[in-house]
Amino acid sequence: MAAALCLVSYAQTGPDVLIPKPVSATLLPGETNADAAVKTVIGSRKFKAAVKGLPDYAAKEAYRLTIKGKTAVVEALTEEGAFRGKSTFEYMKKMSPDGRLASCVVFDYPRLRHRGLMFDISRHFRDKNFILKQLELMASIKMNVLHLHLTDDAGWRIQIDKYPKLTKMAAWRDKALWKDWNETGHNYAKEGEPEAFGGYLTKDDVREILAFAAERHITIIPEIELPGHSLEVTKAYTETACLDSTGSSPVFTSDLCPGSDFALQMFKDILDEVIELFPSEFIHIGGDEASKSAWGSCPRCVSRMKANGLKDVDELQSWFVRQFDEYLASKGRRLLGWDEIMQGGLAPGATVMSWRGTEHGIKAASAGHDVVMSPENWCYINRNQDNPLALGEFVGGYLPLSRVYEYNPADGFTDTAHLLGLQGNLWTEHVPTDANFEFKAYPRAFAIAEIGWSPQEVRDFDEFRPRAVLLADYIRGLGYNPFDLHTEWGERPEKGREVSHLARGCKVVYNIPYSDKYPAEGDESLVNGLQGGWTYVGGRWQGFQSDFDVTVDLGKKQRLSFVGGHFLANIGAWIGFPVKIEIQTSDDGVNFTPCFETYCQVKAADDGAQYVLLGDFIDAEARYVRIKAPRYDRPYHDWLFIDEIIIK
Ligand code: ACM
Ligand code: ZN
Repeated sequence: MAAALCLVSYAQTGPDVLIPKPVSATLLPGETNADAAVKTVIGSRKFKAAVKGLPDYAAKEAYRLTIKGKTAVVEALTEEGAFRGKSTFEYMKKMSPDGRLASCVVFDYPRLRHRGLMFDISRHFRDKNFILKQLELMASIKMNVLHLHLTDDAGWRIQIDKYPKLTKMAAWRDKALWKDWNETGHNYAKEGEPEAFGGYLTKDDVREILAFAAERHITIIPEIELPGHSLEVTKAYTETACLDSTGSSPVFTSDLCPGSDFALQMFKDILDEVIELFPSEFIHIGGDEASKSAWGSCPRCVSRMKANGLKDVDELQSWFVRQFDEYLASKGRRLLGWDEIMQGGLAPGATVMSWRGTEHGIKAASAGHDVVMSPENWCYINRNQDNPLALGEFVGGYLPLSRVYEYNPADGFTDTAHLLGLQGNLWTEHVPTDANFEFKAYPRAFAIAEIGWSPQEVRDFDEFRPRAVLLADYIRGLGYNPFDLHTEWGERPEKGREVSHLARGCKVVYNIPYSDKYPAEGDESLVNGLQGGWTYVGGRWQGFQSDFDVTVDLGKKQRLSFVGGHFLANIGAWIGFPVKIEIQTSDDGVNFTPCFETYCQVKAADDGAQYVLLGDFIDAEARYVRIKAPRYDRPYHDWLFIDEIIIK
């Protein structure tokens, strides 16, 4: 029997596999083996000359890697630069299927100084080992900041010695899933109870995370949220909650009481312990989405406003944040906060993390504040990245890898001197497991890494995507769970296809107006032939926080054979299908004749999004068609979304 010899031949692995793409890479003749000895040269005169003219932060991380003959030489100014260079060599080795590397020179440095991810470990707790695992991967793609969202309504996640009830009472809850907990009255549990779900990082855990991160030149920025998103604090320490207008009982709104001297002192004490643990220059104090709803009537808040000449609750928030800006500054640290800290006046030393679009960051930078960009429409990597029918629960827009990658943090800035960098944020309301977290984080975090490191002019999505596939496949082999780009659907096909029908371009009278939050393209939207994408955000789906009721004027009497509409449901975002669609016709627009009603036979599922064309055949002649679609009187069916009326 003849033996079959199968020879697989690979090209040598070169710098073209790398994420992030380096500033420059030059192939040399010949090849090198992956077991080449690594030699590090720090601070040579030659390398100093090579990085002359780079900003300090870039020079600090710059390296030159020369892979040639039997050695890989890494030149750098600092240990950090040498680490980045060695990471590049390690990356190429890992991607090489047979240990053969192209001889080459890579000269490289970062575009921006802050290349981060944020992990929300409050809504669903992620433990020390999970964090260490992610740090390892982040270092390999040259990310240098991990921002930990340690505290929020759903759980306090860090040991604080002076206030032990924060973890004894508020790091645990009666439901494992945030969604269940959120729908059942926000009940906490006590540490050690059999049905207590949650957890927290002990100070020893934090020290281990910090040491691991430091070895990889990653800074951990802790976030201690105030004054919003603090229900757990107000439940554990009632003194931090606002009072009702009589001053006799606490009001639980999720906000701290900025009028409470106890709350003020407590958070200074907490920050003392946080500062003692975390060496980061920045301490994040949250600052987002405070409802401020109890502040106007709480006697403590009212007297705080009076005493300090504050004209409204925005100024009260600003006053509260300023106390921590000054406190942190007195300890040699800098305050970082979500962009709402600009409401009522930005504290002088504050750095802004811009999440509600880019304009707040741009404005803060032009006023001389440093900013980190994490606009939700590009950087919220918990959002849905593909066909939701295949992926399950999400809220918010469609955010595929390609859209993350298209983001340029410098867009809109006239001067980028205060642009520190960017960050991908992973909020975990709908991220219950480690596997689901990684599924959402990767490969989109690779895009964030490359945006932050590589020069804008070398970036190209079509060229990036195969590198992302390669890395995602590699890390899957290591036990991570990245989204599988091999099976990516891309945007909803209907979005790219126009539909033709009799109502196109006709006048639509809204008997009940659409929501000004989701107008799509206004009064023409439902008859423009254009269909929506996977999500209700994005300008094609029109939203109604009401029943649906419109009349279409076809311009002249005509024969009709079908009437219907395309609806979307997404229970996680409180969007249901209508109960039914009801059709009436008229010749004069005044006297209508009922034609048919068709019930929706699809039940909106608890997770993900669904789409139906709800309508029916008809045999009638008419100029006017009235279409009514009532909502269900059920929880989470608050909204209806429709992208097109179809009349044939
Ligand atoms: C945020 O997404 N509320 C910062
Ligand atoms: Zn108050």
